[in-house]
Amino acid sequence: MNLSSVMRSEHELLLPTYDRQKVLFEKGRGVYLWDVEGDPYLDFLSGIGVNALGHRHPAIQRALRQQASQLIHVSNLFFHPYQAELARRLTKISGLDRAFFANSGTEAWEGALKLARAYARTRSTNGHRPKWRILALDHSFHGRTMGALATTGQSKYRDPFGPLVPGVSFVRFNDVEDLKRQFDATVCAVCLETIQGEGGIRPLDKDFLGVARELTRKSGALLLLDEIQCGLGRTGRYFAYQHYKVEPDIVTLAKPLAAGLPLGAILTTRRVAGAIDPGMHGTTFGGGPLVCRVAIEFLKVLAGLLDHVAEVGDYFRERLEQLKTPGGPVVEVRGIGLMLGMELNSATLAKDAVAELLRRKILINRTSETVLRFLPPYIIEKKHVDRVIRALAEVLPGPKPGLARPTSISRSLS
Ligand SMILES: Cc1ncc(COP(=O)(O)O)c(C=O)c1O
Repeated sequence: MNLSSVMRSEHELLLPTYDRQKVLFEKGRGVYLWDVEGDPYLDFLSGIGVNALGHRHPAIQRALRQQASQLIHVSNLFFHPYQAELARRLTKISGLDRAFFANSGTEAWEGALKLARAYARTRSTNGHRPKWRILALDHSFHGRTMGALATTGQSKYRDPFGPLVPGVSFVRFNDVEDLKRQFDATVCAVCLETIQGEGGIRPLDKDFLGVARELTRKSGALLLLDEIQCGLGRTGRYFAYQHYKVEPDIVTLAKPLAAGLPLGAILTTRRVAGAIDPGMHGTTFGGGPLVCRVAIEFLKVLAGLLDHVAEVGDYFRERLEQLKTPGGPVVEVRGIGLMLGMELNSATLAKDAVAELLRRKILINRTSETVLRFLPPYIIEKKHVDRVIRALAEVLPGPKPGLARPTSISRSLS
């Protein structure tokens, strides 16, 4: 099997949803992937934030093998030992009380929206219409199903599929005044990614998130945080909101949760969970024994990696900053931990940079047209960062006077 024959077959047989890079991968290990020619690629995208422990992590392989030999699926009509155990671990690290398991990010987000509307109904009294409006954010991305699309603040994703779920308004990004202007007693939920991913690696301002929390708390609306991309250790803490000292009502998770297997989750408070009765929501596959067992293993490994993510993330950010020169192509470096973006002054340059890195066997991608996105596995080391920085320095035009390593960093290198 070679790349051209696979491309030909896909062209004939698949919906044309993806514009794939022309590379055919066969296996992975650690921070590397190998194509069918046997060439290794340094993976700084980790399957869009999914393979957080890299490829073929021994603990994940072991859990997979053991569980696959015992039980893969039973449906949610019956008990198995691992859903409650996974929920126990997730609630402990998040400060929330209850979990629901789905199969993907978008499905977790749909469930979160349903939960917000259901909760609003339980709170409506004296025949008043329940709160129904949802405030979401410009540039946001919450997934591809109808509710997720309705709350996604980028028209290119929404427009081909209207009419979408009604009741959603968009607030300007990090604009406290706009949030206050649009918020009223009819709002049941304010929906935010703590750090926008597809929108170009944009962290919320502390002020903005604080005001969103205050408004929702006072009126009895819910604060929904989508941490599908930024959660579960990506920022060096279990959850990105833990950098902000804010307590959300609902959090959604997915990408790295089961280390490459499909698993999403909704976490919420005891109070909000009270809005759900048996039969109101569910899924056939979600939270099966195999995915839950693997996710438990992921969380065990993650506990020992958080400090490393914070440290190597700071180093990576500092080195990206060195590529910024007056009048040069780098506009801004954004992000926390190992969720980093580098905004360039041209969409074409960003596209070319991704292609040039691919030629040098390094995987990254471009989001929001002009932003180079880095979502490497949590196990990367400084030497891997150095290789990516060297490649970027070659690829981006202009002088890089700041590229010499700062002495503090040189000293910390082994
Ligand atoms: C913040 C956020 N929410 C939701 C989703 C949708 O997740 P999925 O593709 O698993 O449905 C994504 C995917 O990129 C995401 O980044």
